[in-house]
Amino acid sequence: MDERSPAMLPPFPLSIAISEGDRLRIVQEHDRLTAFLHDLQHTCSEFDTSVDCKRCGREKMASCQGLLVSFQFDFIELIEEHFEHEEELMRRCLASPEDDAYFRHHQAEHTRLLQEIRNVLIPQSTQMSHHGQTAAAIRLLQEKITEIFSQHTLDFDQHLLK
Ligand SMILES: [Fe+2]
Ligand SMILES: [Fe+2]
Repeated sequence: MDERSPAMLPPFPLSIAISEGDRLRIVQEHDRLTAFLHDLQHTCSEFDTSVDCKRCGREKMASCQGLLVSFQFDFIELIEEHFEHEEELMRRCLASPEDDAYFRHHQAEHTRLLQEIRNVLIPQSTQMSHHGQTAAAIRLLQEKITEIFSQHTLDFDQHLLK
């Protein structure tokens, strides 16, 4: 069975007592990540079609390629910061974080997500864009990242945000 399957996860706490200010900060960071993904989506005029970049002019294609590269850099920086904030918060709020199954699984999952985005999704989307398939590259990144973050929130972050 997939090691990330919810059935395999230990019984995590119903919630962790964090301050309203800390909770708000995490929510705001999640909103910022979502806004970044929306901006990426709205870069592409063909996002909701299955059409590639043929209908766009050379200038628009170059602009989308540039924005995709900026997104890749900025987004990685943003999620690294966000994961560090969550981990720092858990260290502060849990009595013995290094012995805590929730903390260890949550931290390991942050590492795994970063690796998946950095080592798989970014190279894949870069290659597609270099081959003139920038619309498909944008769709891939937006859809995959949205999917893995939604699952991560359900499995882990919700225990901080309740
Ligand atoms: Fe998070
Ligand atoms: Fe998290």
